[in-house]
Amino acid sequence: MTSQEMIALCKKHTLYTWAAQDAVDPLAIASAKGVYLYTVDGQRILDFNSQLMSVLIGHGHPRVIAAMQKQMETLIYCYPQTATEPRAKLGKVLSELLPGDIDSFFFTTGGAEANENAIKIARQYTGRFKILSRYRSYHGATNATMQLTGDPRRWASEPGAPGFVRVMDPVPLEFSFGATEEEQTKNHLIYLEEMIQYEGPNQIAAFFIEPVTGTNGVLIPPKGWLAGVRALTRKYGILLVCDEVMAGFGRTGKWFSFEHGGLVGDQAPDIVTMAKGLTSSYVPLGAMGVSAAIADYMRSHVFSGGLTYNSHPLAMACAVSVLEVMKDEKMVENAAAMESVMRREMDRLTARHQSVKEARAIGLFGMFDLRKNGTGGPPHGRPGEMIAPYNGAHPAMGKLGKFFRDEGLFTFMRWSSFSAIPPLSITEEQLCEGFAIVDRGLDITDAVFEG
Ligand SMILES: Cc1ncc(COP(=O)(O)O)c(C=O)c1O
Repeated sequence: MTSQEMIALCKKHTLYTWAAQDAVDPLAIASAKGVYLYTVDGQRILDFNSQLMSVLIGHGHPRVIAAMQKQMETLIYCYPQTATEPRAKLGKVLSELLPGDIDSFFFTTGGAEANENAIKIARQYTGRFKILSRYRSYHGATNATMQLTGDPRRWASEPGAPGFVRVMDPVPLEFSFGATEEEQTKNHLIYLEEMIQYEGPNQIAAFFIEPVTGTNGVLIPPKGWLAGVRALTRKYGILLVCDEVMAGFGRTGKWFSFEHGGLVGDQAPDIVTMAKGLTSSYVPLGAMGVSAAIADYMRSHVFSGGLTYNSHPLAMACAVSVLEVMKDEKMVENAAAMESVMRREMDRLTARHQSVKEARAIGLFGMFDLRKNGTGGPPHGRPGEMIAPYNGAHPAMGKLGKFFRDEGLFTFMRWSSFSAIPPLSITEEQLCEGFAIVDRGLDITDAVFEG
């Protein structure tokens, strides 16, 4: 098929996500290898977003393909009540990887289902109904996870199921609660505890957080916040659920992003949800990991969850192989090492381009925020208004997106921000290739900077 034929048929017979269908302008992709995508028309594109922040080991890794081929020749599918070797292996590997006593896993087909099951099990285990989450969050597009989600993607699903309570983030959108990170943490935890009182501490089953928030801006929590939340949830018997769907599996330079806040050993979360990087998106797979206390409870209580594709052998084998590759090729270590290159390039571009409000990174998880005005300097990033309003657009952002596409850089544009979230296999040279395109693109937003 030509790219035009592909696009026409895809648009005629399939629905695209989060869009009015006439506005969709898909790239026609023929193949992908390593950190590059190749279009049907022969353009090479640097994948600066790991597709949906999920292809962590890079595209088409031969070892994983071989492992999947081997599994396909032996056993592609059998029903969830069976035992299989890849399922046995993956459970064990994950129990060794996750901190604390998170040793028991339920496998789903993606992140939303992992969170759905976490809501279910948290309610059953605690006997409580309410669920807390943050406004600047995304947890999935199913019915309940849309209510967990704080960002505007939730609005079209409202009114949703009752029992979901959203809280403010530790750092508000454009201001700050205090001069230092410690003050921000202290003040926010005061508000959080007060909210818990208003909602009724013994009504709240769980608090869901992305320990480093993803699509809502690569938000790195202020110092002490994660530990403070752990202490507060323990104080009131509220389960802490860490959604590691996007930030997990090395993205931030550690296996799990909550490790940056010291949530390991006896401070580990009660439930961890995962997906995306678990198979590097080679096949759909999500997982919910639960603590020993919850796993023990489920030994004598019915777990009311099920999926035809639970513990799908092909997905299990794929995940085992992906995790081996990540360890053997030291990809988490590479993400940690590349953070300094990310920061160096981001600082360089911030100094060169007035329209950059802030550029931040943790590991290979990076985000640029652009501004339309503002003079002066830190302490809280550069002052000035975001180039587009919250949930809004600006023509220069559209132009910038088109520039990246024409120049062969695949990234994720949202409101005033765009991401730098490449596969963990990326080299310094390839990263610089991406930032060189970003450098030229930022002239577009500089041109509309009002001063
Ligand atoms: C933090 C987080 N949680 C959950 C999800 C939902 O995962 P899925 O799209 O696999 O259902 C996503 C997807 O982007 C996510 O980023």
